[in-house]
Amino acid sequence: MKVLIDINVIEDVLSKREGWENSGKVIDLAQTKKIEGWILAGSIPTLHYLHVKRVGERQARKEIAEQISEFLIVPLRKGLISAAWQSDFPDFEDNLQIEAAKQFGLEAIITRNKKDFKDSPVPAYTPEEFLDKLAKEKKQPDKVNFLDLKAQFHQIYNSVDDSMTEVITNTSFILGKEVELFEEEFARFHQAKYGIGVGSGTEALHLALLACGVQPGDEVITAANTFIATTLAISYAGARPVLVDIDPQTYNIDISKIEETITERTKAIIPVHLYGQPADMDAILEIAARHNLKVIEDACQAHGSEYKGRKVGAIGDAGCFSFYPGKNLGAYGDGGIVATNNEEIADSLKLLRNYGQRVKYYHSQKGFNSRLDTIQAAVLRVKLNHLEKWNNLRRGHARLYSQLLADSDCATPVEVPDSRHVYHLYIIRVEGRSALQEYLASKGVGTIIHYPVPIHLQEAYRDLEYSRGDFPVTEEYADKILSLPMFPELTPSQIEWVALALKEGLER
Ligand SMILES: Cc1ncc(COP(=O)(O)O)c(C=O)c1O
Repeated sequence: MKVLIDINVIEDVLSKREGWENSGKVIDLAQTKKIEGWILAGSIPTLHYLHVKRVGERQARKEIAEQISEFLIVPLRKGLISAAWQSDFPDFEDNLQIEAAKQFGLEAIITRNKKDFKDSPVPAYTPEEFLDKLAKEKKQPDKVNFLDLKAQFHQIYNSVDDSMTEVITNTSFILGKEVELFEEEFARFHQAKYGIGVGSGTEALHLALLACGVQPGDEVITAANTFIATTLAISYAGARPVLVDIDPQTYNIDISKIEETITERTKAIIPVHLYGQPADMDAILEIAARHNLKVIEDACQAHGSEYKGRKVGAIGDAGCFSFYPGKNLGAYGDGGIVATNNEEIADSLKLLRNYGQRVKYYHSQKGFNSRLDTIQAAVLRVKLNHLEKWNNLRRGHARLYSQLLADSDCATPVEVPDSRHVYHLYIIRVEGRSALQEYLASKGVGTIIHYPVPIHLQEAYRDLEYSRGDFPVTEEYADKILSLPMFPELTPSQIEWVALALKEGLER
């Protein structure tokens, strides 16, 4: 639960005035992150002013900082202040708190002076009432979204706000220090020598293909079951996508079927680490070496995923990542990066993403405008510090789903030994998918299909002249797969709720 905590609750604890114990319990809940506690920035000086009188400057700072160290802080922005001036409620500071709670989607205000919030659109509770409400709250969730970006945004709000504000106040909006630092940090995390930030995951693939020498008329092999961006990038490079069916266990490219598609025009293979599960890189690298092909990993769904102890991305010649907001590492808009250990490829990408110029206005080739946005780099630097923890949470959720669904009529994901799946998506396979999806929706459970129409059957790719029946596993799975809610902040009771609803749906 997300709540705004009035300073009178914190004042209770600092002054140990009569009846402070329940306020102490509320603050403990926020400090141990059992609830999400917010405080208005403007209230902190008041708290300090009052406490200094009691204990002196040094002690006051220490004690206040201790009480609110895990709180999130609502900044005093002009928009918030204007809204509070215009509000009908009599007290300005209370108005600020109400507006703050409204703007940040907080569910309650906890205060000792409940009467001051009598007509507030955000419900106010005394600490006693709030503790009572929490104790009685029904444990069963009534809604589980497929993805909840707000749950994540709240955790990191203040750090992201600080780093975005730094870019804005520096006015260094294109490339610059934030992009460079993020590239270094991301590359280090993925055990790559170089990271080159670009405009999106699709652009990462497109430019990586060009940097690897793919030209019009070439052929590039990839999996039949992927997001269309993989093949679009091949098309942008003027090459022809050559599709290969998927392995029925892993949903990734079937390595036993790659070689039969290789021709003298084949230039590269793009294995896709789909849903966060690494493709069989050893086998792919071995085929590529025998036929002198480049390997460009599509790791757009696989940030932090590992193959035989190595992070994906720089196992092949280059690896491409997307920072679309819903990804395991998502920006607040579009973004992407190419990881590589190859200096020449890295150098070529730096030119390609920036109009083909090394020095401003001197263009050695017809490059593109596809740079990672600097504000996005600032956001991503903050989020990268959480990626490992978030991936572990995803893996824990997947384990729980698989345990709960073990005795049901659906196929759950299979993890390849020696690999670390990072569950960008948790995919099941079922018969009667559309009825099940409808039933889940009726129970408040959001699901999506990744992907309902395979690429070779998409209108956009009629020119490839594939037909139904060409990729039987991909086609069969497209009719059966369903992605269940998956994001780090899911709770065990939400997962239990989804599993229960799913089993009920299957039994109907
Ligand atoms: C497998 C795959 N490849 C490529 C992309 C393209 O990334 P972006 O949306 O950042 O262009 C995505 C993500 O959307 C993806 O899932």
